[in-house]
Amino acid sequence: MTLAGRSLTRIADLSDEEIRSILDRASEYAAAPRDRMDELRGRIVAAAFFEPSTRTRLSFETAAHRLGARVIGFADGGSTSSVKGESLEDTTRVLAGYGDLLVLRHPEQGAAARAAAVSDVPVVNAGDGAGEHPTQTLLDLYTMRDNLGDLEGVRVAVMGDLRYGRTVHSLVPALHRLGADVVAVPAPGLGLPDDVAGHGGGVDEVPLGEAAASCDVLYVTRVQRERMSRQESAGGSGHLVVDGDLLRRSGSRAIVMHPLPRVDEISVDVDSLPSAKYFEQARNAVPVRMSVLSHILGASP
Ligand code: NCD
Repeated sequence: MTLAGRSLTRIADLSDEEIRSILDRASEYAAAPRDRMDELRGRIVAAAFFEPSTRTRLSFETAAHRLGARVIGFADGGSTSSVKGESLEDTTRVLAGYGDLLVLRHPEQGAAARAAAVSDVPVVNAGDGAGEHPTQTLLDLYTMRDNLGDLEGVRVAVMGDLRYGRTVHSLVPALHRLGADVVAVPAPGLGLPDDVAGHGGGVDEVPLGEAAASCDVLYVTRVQRERMSRQESAGGSGHLVVDGDLLRRSGSRAIVMHPLPRVDEISVDVDSLPSAKYFEQARNAVPVRMSVLSHILGASP
């Protein structure tokens, strides 16, 4: 089984072996972080971003450039024919006629699968509403593995908005599959959806102090206000904050991760601690997305 030519719309699209292969090749790219212009020379990556993005779009672009591919696309759906009423399916068919691979971010859950169903070229989901974000999960797993070694038996607390946060919807099933233990520290009313928690037999909810004291990883997420109704958002979410004091008081040994952007759920006094890994995690996006592009576009390293 090869990943060449296949779409990646959810983490379940990848076998455990394919996940390991992507992480392994990413390690090779990270160890020799120079351009490999020959690998994807002559290829074109189309990046269609209908929702705001800093890291995902620019790390995909950097990854494509480092492999010698060129990039077309847009960072704002407001400048495209979607404002004239063009459907996602039609936009996808058109872009698939220009690029060799389509990276898509879209506010609607299921958008990447809809695009993949009509696309002649592979579609990589860069976030579909409150759905999934599988390449974020790959770089999250890479960062955990890099810091902690094998993920079997590693204890991970996912924190914050677990209901609308798509990164955890891809991460939790992947962690279960790779043998990690997952616990949840949801913001009030924002627990994991049943279909996500159900993978691997459910996820226990624990208080923040207990998670900090007992886990190897605190994976913090922001409240996704843009996905909430006005009423939900106005209700306030009583979100949780990780700060230096919490980590000291609990005697935490955990590394602290966050897909970013951070709002105020990790206080800035954590940034200078050795356990803060979120900027390292954002940097890891480049070798991991290089590896994703290389696997799907069928280049040999
Ligand atoms: C995340 C996303 O877009 O889902 N950001 C990212 O891709 N690094 C997380 C978020 O926006 O909270």
